[in-house]
Parts: sequence; structure tokens; C-alpha cells
Amino acid sequence: MAVREVNNPMSEFLEKTPSSKEFMEEAATVMPGGVTANIKHFEPHPIVMKYAKGSSVTDVDDNKYIDYLMSYGSLVTGHGHEKIKRAINEQVEQDGTWLFGTPHHLEVEMGKRLQTYFPSMERLRYTNSGTEATLLSLRLAAAHTGKHKVAKFEGHYHGGYDQMLISVNPSVDEAGEAHAPNALPESKGMHNSHVQNTLILPFNDLKACEALLREQQDEIGAVMLEPVQGGIIPADATFMQGLREVTKELGIVLIFDEVKTGFRMGLGGAQTVYGVSPDLTTLGKAVGGGFPIGIVGGKKEIIMNSAPTAGADVFDSSQSKNTSAKDVLFHSGTYNGHPMILAAGMAVIDILEQEIGNVIEKTQRLKTGIDDLFHHYKVQGGTVGIGSIFSVVLTNKEKIQNYRDLQQTDLATRKEIDFRLLQKGIYTKPMSRYSVSTSHTEEDIDKTIMAFDQVLQEVFEGPRF
Ligand SMILES: Cc1ncc(COP(=O)(O)O)c(C=O)c1O
Repeated sequence: MAVREVNNPMSEFLEKTPSSKEFMEEAATVMPGGVTANIKHFEPHPIVMKYAKGSSVTDVDDNKYIDYLMSYGSLVTGHGHEKIKRAINEQVEQDGTWLFGTPHHLEVEMGKRLQTYFPSMERLRYTNSGTEATLLSLRLAAAHTGKHKVAKFEGHYHGGYDQMLISVNPSVDEAGEAHAPNALPESKGMHNSHVQNTLILPFNDLKACEALLREQQDEIGAVMLEPVQGGIIPADATFMQGLREVTKELGIVLIFDEVKTGFRMGLGGAQTVYGVSPDLTTLGKAVGGGFPIGIVGGKKEIIMNSAPTAGADVFDSSQSKNTSAKDVLFHSGTYNGHPMILAAGMAVIDILEQEIGNVIEKTQRLKTGIDDLFHHYKVQGGTVGIGSIFSVVLTNKEKIQNYRDLQQTDLATRKEIDFRLLQKGIYTKPMSRYSVSTSHTEEDIDKTIMAFDQVLQEVFEGPRF
């Protein structure tokens, strides 16, 4: 009995994180659930961090961890990178302020650099988050096609607004047929019209997608997807090519949401790896190096819909309105193209131009180390993912192809592994993916593989809790 107690990762977690627990109790008196983004929550309580540098984070109980959450992948250069700090400080010194509310040279300079890596972005616009970027891309697609219904894939996340917060993490019992999934809302308070206006497609099933899209081709203006679902399940190359061809034929705007994959599959995102060019691309996360940013880029004829039209914009009071609002595509935002964030983004590109190959190699070494351990302990499963993101799955399936495959993996054991890794100083939010950064050292990778070795041994050879 005593041995089982010692090996119970949940009781060890509680013993190790009393200050986090106390903090969360107080936080709950201010914010619902003590958090201001539900993603920050996990049971029994989140670990509250107080300091980070490079690849390491320290919590309020002074526990130190190697961080693989990296703020959901956005910190591709790790914590507190000196070059990014310098870039921001120098920009403020140079400009004398941090925000003009006017055009700024970095909007053009950053845009040109993005265009070299994403040639599909003939024109682009900045937003303040990935959510805003995908939202704008849908409006652009609707304006271009005149069709307002959109299609998205089961298990894909594009932000928390009503039209796309559908069938992201649905109950498989309610999700219907795999080849024609039901559209299920993911939040209270959503109007049913959104469910009716969003078609749910099965990922990596071209035949089924083609049939569903053909059926509703007169209504569907856009298909949006994460080219690598959740950053970890790659689309098959033939699926990507097929989807490109069928959307083109049916006059549907193809949107690659590369908020996770941009700057993590390489500097040109998944589209460069696949050699498939979407009509629109959305970026975010790593592109801002940990600061809030979003980008929508794509075909000139589509993006140009957002160009200001004299006498017609909501904010244009210089003359009386001479154009109907329906002729204008509204896009604005107080902080769009924030100079400090663009300075950070430019520094991220500088760093990744030198180091992205190395980050991907380190990730590969870590994945191989974990896969070898799965093999050694005769555990079915291993790592999934490409570029500098991956996840760990326990499954007897040869290949994970979509959301439903992922749901059939052994999630309970994965959770146990995650909590045991926390005890060994390896941090990602339980059940999350792993994001490797330029700041992870070879020693970090060795330590992580060693921690996995101990944990897999405890879980599969030792007593279970
Ligand atoms: C693929 C994808 N699209 C959009 C978003 C939304 O981005 P943000 O959280 O910056 O609003 C996310 C965030 O996780 C994402 O992963």
C-alpha cells in the first residue's frame, strides 16, 4: 500500500504544488474558475509559473521544469530571448513610443519577409490574434465568392467564435457517421444558425469530402483546415492535393490555417512542405514570438477586398457616404501591426533563419528517443507530428489519421504519463502537445528522454495507482 502511495502521481502532484493550489483558490474569487482563458485550466489545478528563461520555467513552489508547452507553441525561441528583448527595446527607443496608430515601416518590412517564405501571400493584413485572422479570412472568402456557408474539419480548431467553434472536440457518441460528421456546437450560448452554416468534413478522407462539398457547392464559400491537425496529424499529401483541386473546381476558397504550423514546419509553413498553395493563409502564434499577432495573406484578388474605399468605410467621416456599406469589406483594429510586436516578429525570423533546421533536428532526436523507449518497453504507440511539434499517443493503430483515431487512443495512460513527467521536471500541460524551441539544449533533450525512460518503466513495469 505504501509503495502504491509513493507511486501515485496525483498525490505527488498535490504535495509538490501547494502554492499553485492556494493561488488558484484566490484567483477563483476574481475570475470564473480562476482563469482568464479556459485553456489554462486543468484538474486538479493548474501549475502557476512565476519565472522562465530559455527552456526552463519555475513555478510558485520553486519547482523547475523543462518547458515543452512553450505557451502553446508560440515561444519558438523559448523564454526571454535576448535578441527579442533587444529588438523590442531598440524599436521603442527609435520610435520614442510604442504605438502610432498610423502606417509604420515594419508593417511593410515584415510583410516582405513573410512573402519570401509564403509566396502564396500576394497581399496580407495583420491582426491581433489567430482568432481574428481566421475570422477575417472567412469574411474575405464570403466577399469573394458571395457564398456564406463554410466547411471545416472535425477536430480542427480555428478560434473561439461561433461559426468555427463547432465539432472541435465532439463526443464521438454524438458525432454521427465518420464520413459525414454531425456539426456539434462546443459552447453554451451559440445560435443554431452557426451549426447550420458550418459543414463538418472528415480529415484525410478525400472521397467523403468531395461528395459533401459537391452536394453543397452553391452555398460553401470556404474550406478551412489545419494542414497538420492540432499541429500533430499531418494531412496525406494526396489528400491535400485532392482538396486543392476540388475546391478550385467548385469555386471554394481554400484556407490553410497555419497558426500552429507557420514557422514550425519550417519558415514557409506546411504549404511549403506539401508544395500546395492555398488561396488564403492564416498565421499567428510563433510569428509573434510570444506576443499577440495574427496574419491573413493570400491571393491578391481576394485580399484586395479589404482595401479602404473612400467615402464608404465605417470610420471615414471625411465626406458623406457615397458608397453602400455592402461594397466595403470592413477590417480594422487599434493594435493591428503593432510596431513592438512586429519588431519581435522580425527578430524571430532572424533567429529562425539560423536555427530552424537545428530545432527540427532536436525535435526529431527527442521523438526517436521516445519511440525507442516505447519499443523497448513493448508499449504500443509513440510520437506523432512533424516539424518542431509532436504529441505522444498510446495506440495499436499503425497510423493516426484524424480526430476519431485520436479519441480511440489510451488517453488515461497518456494522462498518467504526463503527471509522472511533471514530477520529473518535464512540463507540458497534461494531454497537450510538445513544442520544441531554439532554446532547448541537447542536455534538455537527454534529460527528457531519461525522464520518459523512468516514467515508462514506472507505468508499464511498476505498480499502478
Ligand atoms: C490552428 C489555430 N487557429 C487559430 C487559433 C487561434 O489563435 P489565437 O489563440 O491566437 O486567437 C489557434 C490557437 O490555438 C490555432 O491553433
